[in-house]
Amino acid sequence: FYQWRNDSVCSPGVTENHADPETMLLPFLREKVKLTGTKYGCGGGGCGACTVMVSRYQPATKTIIHYSANACLLPLCQLHGAAVTTVEGIGSTKTRIHPVQERIAKAHGSQCGFCTPGMVMSTYALLRNKPQPTMDDITEALAGNLCRCTGYRPIVEGCRTFCQEANCCQANGAANCCLNGEKNGDEPEQEKPQLFDKLDLLPLDPTQELIFPPELILMADTSPQTLTFHGERVSWVSPVSLEELIQLKAKHPKAPLVMGNTNIGPDMKFKGILHPLIISPTRVKELFEVSQTPQGVWVGAGCSLSELHSVLKKLVPQFPEEKTEVFRALNRQLGNLGSVQIRNVASLGGNIVSAYPNSDLNPILAVGNCKVSVISSGGRREVPLNQDFFVGFGKVILQPEEIVVSVFIPFSRKGEFVQALRHAPRKEASFATVTAGMRVMFSESSRVVQDISIYYGGMGPTTVSAAKTCQAIIRRPWDDETLGQAYDILLEELALPPSAPGGKVEFRRSLTLSLLFKFYLEVLHKLKAMNVITDEVPEKIQPLPREIQPGLQEFQPVSKDQGNHDAVGRPMMHRSAISQATGEAVYCDDLPKIEGELFLVVVTSSRAHAKITGLDVSEALQLPGVVDVITTKDIPGKKVRTFCGYDEELLAESEVSCIGQMICAVVADTKAHAKRGAAAVKISYEDLPDPIFTIEEAVEKSSYFEPRRLLQRGDVTEAFKTVDKVYEGEIRIGGQEHFYMETQSMLVVPVGEEMEFNVYISTQWPTLIQDAVAETLNISSNRVTCHVKRVGGAFGGKVTRTSVLASITSVAAWKTNRAVRCVLERGEDMVITGGRHPTLGKYKVGFMNDGKIVAADIQFFANSGNTVDESPLVAEKMVLHMDNAYNIPNLRGRGAACKTNLPSNTAFRGFGVPQSLLIVENMINDVAMVLGCPADKVNMYRGPSTTHYKFEFNPENLLRCWEEGKRRSDYSARRAAIEQFNQQNRWKKRGISIIPIKYGIAFSDGFLNQAAALVHIYKDGSVLVSHGGTEIGQGVHTKMQQVASRELHIPPSKIYISETSTNTVPNTCPSAASFGTDANGMAVKDACQILYQRLEPIRKKNPKGTWESWAKEAFMEKISLSATGFYKGPDLYLDWDKMEGQPYAYYTYGVSCSEVELDCLTGDYRTLRTDIVMDIGKSVNPSVDVGQIEGAFTQGLGLYTLEELKFSPFGLLYTRGPSQYKIPAVCDMPLQLNIYLLPDSENPYAIYSSKGIGEPALFLGSSVFFAIKDAVAAARSDSGLKGPFSLNSPATPERACLASASPFTQKVPASKPGSFKPWALDI
Ligand SMILES: Cc1cc2nc3c(=O)[nH]c(=O)nc-3n(C[C@H](O)[C@H](O)[C@H](O)COP(=O)(O)OP(=O)(O)OC[C@H]3O[C@@H](n4cnc5c(N)ncnc54)[C@H](O)[C@@H]3O)c2cc1C
Ligand code: FES
Ligand code: FES
Repeated sequence: FYQWRNDSVCSPGVTENHADPETMLLPFLREKVKLTGTKYGCGGGGCGACTVMVSRYQPATKTIIHYSANACLLPLCQLHGAAVTTVEGIGSTKTRIHPVQERIAKAHGSQCGFCTPGMVMSTYALLRNKPQPTMDDITEALAGNLCRCTGYRPIVEGCRTFCQEANCCQANGAANCCLNGEKNGDEPEQEKPQLFDKLDLLPLDPTQELIFPPELILMADTSPQTLTFHGERVSWVSPVSLEELIQLKAKHPKAPLVMGNTNIGPDMKFKGILHPLIISPTRVKELFEVSQTPQGVWVGAGCSLSELHSVLKKLVPQFPEEKTEVFRALNRQLGNLGSVQIRNVASLGGNIVSAYPNSDLNPILAVGNCKVSVISSGGRREVPLNQDFFVGFGKVILQPEEIVVSVFIPFSRKGEFVQALRHAPRKEASFATVTAGMRVMFSESSRVVQDISIYYGGMGPTTVSAAKTCQAIIRRPWDDETLGQAYDILLEELALPPSAPGGKVEFRRSLTLSLLFKFYLEVLHKLKAMNVITDEVPEKIQPLPREIQPGLQEFQPVSKDQGNHDAVGRPMMHRSAISQATGEAVYCDDLPKIEGELFLVVVTSSRAHAKITGLDVSEALQLPGVVDVITTKDIPGKKVRTFCGYDEELLAESEVSCIGQMICAVVADTKAHAKRGAAAVKISYEDLPDPIFTIEEAVEKSSYFEPRRLLQRGDVTEAFKTVDKVYEGEIRIGGQEHFYMETQSMLVVPVGEEMEFNVYISTQWPTLIQDAVAETLNISSNRVTCHVKRVGGAFGGKVTRTSVLASITSVAAWKTNRAVRCVLERGEDMVITGGRHPTLGKYKVGFMNDGKIVAADIQFFANSGNTVDESPLVAEKMVLHMDNAYNIPNLRGRGAACKTNLPSNTAFRGFGVPQSLLIVENMINDVAMVLGCPADKVNMYRGPSTTHYKFEFNPENLLRCWEEGKRRSDYSARRAAIEQFNQQNRWKKRGISIIPIKYGIAFSDGFLNQAAALVHIYKDGSVLVSHGGTEIGQGVHTKMQQVASRELHIPPSKIYISETSTNTVPNTCPSAASFGTDANGMAVKDACQILYQRLEPIRKKNPKGTWESWAKEAFMEKISLSATGFYKGPDLYLDWDKMEGQPYAYYTYGVSCSEVELDCLTGDYRTLRTDIVMDIGKSVNPSVDVGQIEGAFTQGLGLYTLEELKFSPFGLLYTRGPSQYKIPAVCDMPLQLNIYLLPDSENPYAIYSSKGIGEPALFLGSSVFFAIKDAVAAARSDSGLKGPFSLNSPATPERACLASASPFTQKVPASKPGSFKPWALDI
């Protein structure tokens, strides 16, 4: 096993004499080799945070191949003879950073930085194979890398600098191109400031890359021997010949053959399946052979899907088109299957034998008449891949001892057409909902079907054949009539029961029809092109556009008079971006293990509402490595945390109220042992009656966390009597998982004396953790120091929930007197920690015929889960924000936090506003639909205005954003163009929407609006700044560095920020409410001003002296070089009885316009363009602020169009990782994203006239929701449906497709609610 560390040199390999077959590369790298740059994000191949490059020497061709792979799924034993390059290996700040690292960092592609090493390594592996990639190559390479902060645009932009074609200005079309040395005609455009300078980048020199270790080449060339490894529970054998493999399989038929480990790995990890013996046939050369015959090609079953893809891509141009139909169909599917990292390791044989219900390849292999050659001690045989082969979920017809050696893919014949079709919840890196292979063969020069074969995936437990449907088509002409009858048969043939696993029953059934229709059209066009038919054929459905254009980011430059040292207002790179890109940045779980350290795993409830009747930990305590089990009885201090006046048990004692509630915790010497210990804890329950899951159930049973809130102005009831029209509607918004890339992580270290503890933790609020640990351990706060270096994303999810986990971990550390680490697995994190509140909004609106809304009565119900957390505050914020940008004279809103038996929901970026405003905008949209006109904003605040809580403000900048948004997006012209497009297209529709936001900044609980800072100047002139804000990716440390730079009149490079800690700055407030820079900036400013003032006599004495000389002199003169700064923020409040107050310091305004193209047959859509205009005053750092806008917008886009939490009817969260829960990926970026910061805006209420920006833009993601709704309305109109309709959020392809009401969706009978138990709940 090899690691490469420094420049171009392969350091001596790491020798591992006891490789455990259960150990994956990721924990090995992180824990054994101490290379922590490679990150854990999910453990299942779904996030890309762990991407490394694997290189192997291939003796047969004497070539070296390089490929990216997910370290979390790579068994260590599999890497014998391979070289692994990690992010540390390609560049470091100590030596030289690699251009990839530099460019992603400088393009501002790293915020929290947790995804960055993975992004770097995916790009690096691409460049090793293709130094001048295309944009398609880049987006393909990054498709499997998730980022929760940036919105991807800056990452793609950084990578774009490697591809020549895309660096063209694109301003004037091909004729006048900057790459030809021609100038852009619009000269002043060039003077606009840029977020980064493309000329200031290191060149990529492929000759400087790392070389493959020569000893590995030697090793590969010497005759190989059988390898065996034995671990604690599992043994591993890697045979070298087919004969040996056959013998092994005959002897151990149950032992799996591990190739890519992308099926076996997740099974072992997530389902706890144990295979005592694993056979690894990756060195058996027969499994990798490719050979051509006159009938087709044999591809070794061991070939990775990427190898298969490249073999087929090479073959296609060598043969006439008619012969390569199957090859091309496979290629199409291979381009979309999983991510590049998965395809690079997953094998063809593994995919076939895994027999996933929604395998992408199997339907094509089946229709393509492919077959496998299998071998066993009984001999060799060939087996066709047809309906008899796939016998059930994960089962094929082969005998356990049989090995698939190779797969035969035949040439297609003249008159034969094959197509691959799939629809997935996310366009890329996602298993399909429904996937299909279809093949039709015509008699010569005729439209009569001679043979047809159709297979679907996702429509049953395995790949299924639509044989009856095929029977109805065969020997009949390929026309509307034949297909019309076929749809009916297909509907009957592939009827899913209404409670089928996976849900989406109506959608899946309608997809089978619409995919067949797509195939029908495609073939019709081919027949027409071949002159077989002459009649008119309906329009061809073009694929959705996918080419990402460079976006604009416009901001005001700093004034010409501003000094060069003064960094305020300049686009300064995130201060840790380079360290994040080299993997050197230290996150909580990167801290080295402390002597005697233990790992903690929590045991959670498997019942939603039950009495605990027994807790047996005896078996767990017997297991190797297990040290203790912590229960509530062990807690020395307060056993509950109190939030909003309600107590929440840290560990449940006698009763549980949701699945995922923590009951006890196992501590052991390693994570693996703690996990096994946790699995061995036995808990018995007695179910309690009537658990409450849905909002409706909570409302029916009056299950609320009080107080419920009411705000109103005017006389709503009276006003309804005066209006032209009244409309009542409702909309449901699903919850959202934070999906911070770094899961909850902490390390509690007892100092060893006087009950002192150091807590290293990933949190937004160190003081809360300090309080929680002190209370729980019954010690005073001065014994607990909480340290936060950086947080790998938080979004509101690392406050209250983290404090509960920290309390439990501290009990374990206290009881065992050892350091205890707790890092949640992704699935645990998703089950335990809750997220954004799913919300139901009901409204009644009264309006005039000109669109003027006169009265509205709105109710907000938030599903809060089993504990109060901050839910009443979230519900409060819903009613506080419900006016958004609109002046509705008679307005009433009620907010309620519903108590249910689901995991407790908590703060999430926007804190209820994104739900509230979607409801309000939907109401406005309904008004427009009732009136049959576009949702134009006739109700917008204008002139001096007063909100419904009697707060006066001036909406001028809101209106400026609105006008600028319309102008910049060219809204009117594009709306007209869309109408034309929609008239010309039956199956694709475009939609556009423009949405405003007015977002209140600061905490409405006035006491939270305070901050402090501590600034030291050292004798050498270097400055250390500490403040109360935590660096969660939002760039607050970078901005604080800029503030200090201005106030001390020194360049930012002299200023350092090490961490946030409770012993430097006490009693801090959370980094939340978009108030971090406002509050901490003022405190840092204060401290710096005090210090600068103190230096005045020294400066006066020696005006020409340097900063360093002044610092030294001040020390000699006994002047204190350390100062605290403090900021007493605004006293905000709301008097709920009087319904008035000033809950916000000021408003941040913005407008977003998005256009989408929707495929009405599948519900797939693409955001073609988004323009955002944002008023953020005078930006302290435009690059950081643009990053916040884009990131929040993308998170909103995820909330409103993509991310779906699914709960079982018993309250179990199904969606426990990136495979089931889809956050936006690169493929979800708007193809063009333009950001404009409103110029000439002042804000007297915040530092340097800036404005808070962390949260406001999230709601702007709803412009995509309403653009989809607009497109759906156009589709409905073609089906004769007019007026308001229901579209809940997220507007997933499923919802968009069903709402579009195509003839296919209309064919599918809806199951009667109540007549069956649905697979998932509508919570
Ligand atoms: C994140 C992620 C995303 C994915 N997305 C998709 C997707 O979009 N579409 C899709 O179709 N698939 C997808 N997959 C599934 C993936 O394609 C399969 O897991 C993979 O092809 C299995 O191959 P493997 O080599 O990794 O199998 P392994 O996990 O190594 O083995 C799987 C099984 O196959 C058996 N096996 C392997 N080779 C042979 C052989 N030669 N003879 C007999 N038995 C054999 C093994 O005994 C074992 O039981 C995804 C997987 C992951 C992890
Ligand atoms: S940690 Fe490996 S892909 Fe997520
Ligand atoms: S920067 Fe990508 S996850 Fe934070």
